[in-house]
Amino acid sequence: MATVTRKIGLSLGADICWPICYEQIVGRLNLAIPHEGNTVGVEVERVSIEPFDLRQPCKYDMVLDRLTHWYHTSREWIKKAILMDGLYVLNNPWAVQSMEKHTSYAAMMHLGMPIPDTWMVPPKSYEPSADLAPTLKAYAKLFDLGAIGKKIGYPLFMKPYDGGGWRAVSRIADERALRTKYEESGKTVMHLQGAVNPFDSFVRCIGLGPQTHLVKYNPDAPLHDRYTQDKDFVSSDEAKLLEDTCLTINSFFGWDFNSCESLRKEGTWYPIDFANPCPDSQVTSLHRHFPWLVKANIRWSIFCAVTKKKFRKTLDWEPFYEIAATDAPYRDKLRQYAAIAHQRFETDRFEEFCATHLANLDEVAWEFFGTPVARAAVRAKVAALFPAHEIEQFTELFWKRIQAWRQETARG
Ligand SMILES: Nc1ncnc2c1ncn2[C@@H]1O[C@H](COP(=O)(O)OP(=O)(O)O)[C@@H](O)[C@H]1O
Ligand SMILES: [Mg+2]
Repeated sequence: MATVTRKIGLSLGADICWPICYEQIVGRLNLAIPHEGNTVGVEVERVSIEPFDLRQPCKYDMVLDRLTHWYHTSREWIKKAILMDGLYVLNNPWAVQSMEKHTSYAAMMHLGMPIPDTWMVPPKSYEPSADLAPTLKAYAKLFDLGAIGKKIGYPLFMKPYDGGGWRAVSRIADERALRTKYEESGKTVMHLQGAVNPFDSFVRCIGLGPQTHLVKYNPDAPLHDRYTQDKDFVSSDEAKLLEDTCLTINSFFGWDFNSCESLRKEGTWYPIDFANPCPDSQVTSLHRHFPWLVKANIRWSIFCAVTKKKFRKTLDWEPFYEIAATDAPYRDKLRQYAAIAHQRFETDRFEEFCATHLANLDEVAWEFFGTPVARAAVRAKVAALFPAHEIEQFTELFWKRIQAWRQETARG
């Protein structure tokens, strides 16, 4: 029986807190997992940014990436490592790059999800280019913005078709406001989307591989309170629906890590924002949900690295489209889509792996999140984001929430 080591790379940007916790907990697990006749250990390393030969081999078995969506050198290094070395990476860089909000709406509308009515409108102005004037003169039709607003109904939301982070999102109450906001929208290509109004619940479902976590969300609260600490805010049927929705989206797009926002109105859940394949992972937003994220990351990455889970380079949408084409009611279709997700994520094998080889993770993480090292990690993130005079206060706030989580999950 040989002893082998799997290498997990962390491809990081401004992340401070979760990588420290991740490294600490993996270190404390001291893994020696029997797998296919070998004893497998795990090493974690931060990926550095440097020149690379396209033919040079990749030393990692799995990479947790936070840079693909904006940092090109890392994205292209990851792409070459997938193509040439069979790297497993979270997330699929092609799907992050090309599947923005608009694509995700269109695909999920086709699968039958109740996405609110959404229009795309050409931008108010353009970057000048030699071909622009003849193109617009010949083909750009004058349109009546008011008529589109009327068709969708008010209130509606104007937001960038590839949006994220609340950039340029406006809630629009009437035609006058629509015209004003459009005049101000500049070169941004916008969606106009019917508001889910009034909604009585707003939930984010975070998906990490086959694992999901529901959080009640309050969009009106300051950043550190948007992820609420509420519990039991949905029925078990609703929880299953939201989880199936999130897993369907994630497996369709090849996103192992993503979050899906849904709003409930009159008993129906409307997904409105689910192209978030580099979700907020910071303790300053997640606080009591942060340990869940760190543990989910550890389970999924260790499973993929140790078992050398095969990375799906292509997305293969056909099975989803085949189900969409049937006459089954939507809830049945969604169950079938989710079954594809579970098959692709290998949920059964994953759960068995965790039960057999990571049975002590909960306890190790629970202990860790009570240590000064964990508190220092929280403080380091707070210090990077908050003004000096608020550092102690907010460190204490997030720490207390994590300790409340520990108390609730304490045994006995
Ligand atoms: N159709 C909608 N109905 C109701 N509220 C919406 C709708 N679209 C967006 N919002 C509100 O605007 C916020 C930002 O829009 P969202 O689509 O989530 O964009 P981003 O990708 O920037 O987060 C949402 O969190 C929600 O509060
Ligand atoms: Mg959003």
